[in-house]
Amino acid sequence: MRTITTIAELRETVREWRLARESIAFVPTMGNLHAGHASLVGAAHLHGRRVVASVFVNPLQFGPNEDFAAYPRTPDEDSQLLEGLGADVLFLPKVEEMYPKGTTGSTIVDVPELSGILCGAFRPGHFQGVATVVVKLLNLVQPDVAIFGEKDYQQLTIIRVSVEDLCLPVKIVGAPTVRADDGLALSSRNRYLDADERARAPQLYRALDRARRRLESGDGDVADIEREGVEALKAAGFRPDYFEVRMAETLARPRGHNVDVVVLAAARLSRARLIDNLQCRAAGELQEAVSGH
Ligand code: PAJ
Repeated sequence: MRTITTIAELRETVREWRLARESIAFVPTMGNLHAGHASLVGAAHLHGRRVVASVFVNPLQFGPNEDFAAYPRTPDEDSQLLEGLGADVLFLPKVEEMYPKGTTGSTIVDVPELSGILCGAFRPGHFQGVATVVVKLLNLVQPDVAIFGEKDYQQLTIIRVSVEDLCLPVKIVGAPTVRADDGLALSSRNRYLDADERARAPQLYRALDRARRRLESGDGDVADIEREGVEALKAAGFRPDYFEVRMAETLARPRGHNVDVVVLAAARLSRARLIDNLQCRAAGELQEAVSGH
């Protein structure tokens, strides 16, 4: 595996692969890699002859009071893991390489219908930062396929829409969420949890699972399903940002009969902000929730 830190060298490598007609699969990350990231690299091997992973903690997607400085950075471990997973290149740029003019005032990618809802309502600017860095990375790596986790469901949706709207020649593939045995979705931010918080954290998954079971059994009372989710999170000691049922493809408010939906939640447990979601088919007729949306 080669570790590349400059755009010039990355472009040269990609150019050689393209000349040799080798396909490329790409896994963008912010590092501190775990089994969830590893599963994306595994999926990448099924989609491309060459596999590129990037590790870049993107300042543009962190708010002023968020954890950019504290975000765990473990480049040596990440590099070892990626080498073991058979990646061809680790792209590990510095902030100045990705944003030579700084992080303000440059071109931004925004999907206005999706960047202000759900997590976007609590993290202004976050999804613009994500979409912008992902489009830049896709332009640099020029992959045939890029793999993203369903764990970050709104992110995956926004990337699918950006790529389609901007006519980028890449196929976006979603990969299932990797969980600990107790249901907690693996995340680099789980390391912010102390032992007591770690023991409570799977309640987020359980609350989502309860909502999924209600929807699958034909319960269409969306407002009550969401209310129960918020209450369950509070009872477990979380400070919930939201617990919502949405249409799986568009993230619009759910409606109709026998439709694919996703239940998404974000909640704080002291310092850590955890997100998770579960997809399902709602068997009943969904009743529009009226208040607050
Ligand atoms: P990061 O949080 O490092 O996640 C990188 C990729 O791994 C994302 O596609 C994410 O959805 C996926 N992932 C994280 N935890 C997962 C899990 N438990 N199971 C499966 N996949 C998982 O998401 C980002 O970085 C950034 O926003 C990025 C897209 C790299 C842009 O900066």
